[in-house]
Amino acid sequence: MKTFGVLTGGGDCPGLNAVLVGVVRKAASLNHKIIGIRRGWAGMLEKDTVSLDREAVSGIVHRGGTILKTSRTNPCKTKEYMEKVKKNYAELKLDGLICVGGDDTLGAAHKLFQAGLKTIGVPKTIDNDLSGTDRTFGFDTAVNIAMEAIDRLHTTAESHDRVLVVEVMGRHAGWIAMYAGLAGGADVIMIPEVQMTMEEVCNIITGRHKRGRDFSIVAVAEGATIGGDFVTKDVPKDEFGHVRLGGLADIIAKEIEQRTGYETRTVVLGHLQRGGSPTAYDRWLGLWFGAKAVELADAGQFGKMVSLRGTKFIAVDLEEAVGQLSTVDPKDFDAARIFFG
Ligand code: F6P
Repeated sequence: MKTFGVLTGGGDCPGLNAVLVGVVRKAASLNHKIIGIRRGWAGMLEKDTVSLDREAVSGIVHRGGTILKTSRTNPCKTKEYMEKVKKNYAELKLDGLICVGGDDTLGAAHKLFQAGLKTIGVPKTIDNDLSGTDRTFGFDTAVNIAMEAIDRLHTTAESHDRVLVVEVMGRHAGWIAMYAGLAGGADVIMIPEVQMTMEEVCNIITGRHKRGRDFSIVAVAEGATIGGDFVTKDVPKDEFGHVRLGGLADIIAKEIEQRTGYETRTVVLGHLQRGGSPTAYDRWLGLWFGAKAVELADAGQFGKMVSLRGTKFIAVDLEEAVGQLSTVDPKDFDAARIFFG
């Protein structure tokens, strides 16, 4: 019997609890023990743990958030932090640590692996911006929430002859905006990977008016730009050095109103995209990612991340996953312009 730790780090994400179920069920089938580390890397620094058995994860597959809680604590912030994590890992007598997170959490898992810890990654993020896997869990739920919001905005925009600018998350990747925008029938989609001018955006909107369509929906990724810097909140950077994005929709709306004269309103979806129940797909992905992570731990394959390639689960080096962000190919964006307007 071996003992593996599991932690959930970074922003929460629908499907995290399903991963925990996958981890615990697979471990039980192999007669291994699972220790839950609470509040992400903060729990490894403070030895804040909880035993995870079948009872502890019973009936949570459908629940959003994470029963382990999460944090944006960076365990590699200082040498002392890294030493503390290594000391606690040894004291907890762990035979491996499953780290469920995005590029920050998995970047730390990779650094700690290089420093001698037996870590394994599970790709989590609504942003879908991790390399090394076709999909991260949580993305599908976020896309569906954003799509439903865009569906709802259509009827009110149409009733009032308004332009509605809806801002979605995604950090420096436009995946959520692209998928939700296309599925929801947005008239313009703006993403960080391809800069559009306000002239282009307004031409599409006025083109619709000329065709007798007196309302428009603009889907904007929070990390897009219109010829300047990212729009950020006036708050300190987080422990991984990230600025908090947000506020672009207001700037775009003002520009559209000034340039076209059409009444324009904004909606920022924010954390709604991360809250609540995961979709069937994210539950399915979460369960298998969790089970496969334990399979890797059992086989002693550390320094790896579980990954979805087509319909198969494979293992890739953590290094591959955190080396570069996965972003929308500008060619795919250009091809999608046929759906604008
Ligand atoms: O990485 C997930 C994400 O939701 C991003 O899309 C967003 O920019 C960020 O986290 C928000 O972070 P916080 O939860 O710290 O506000």
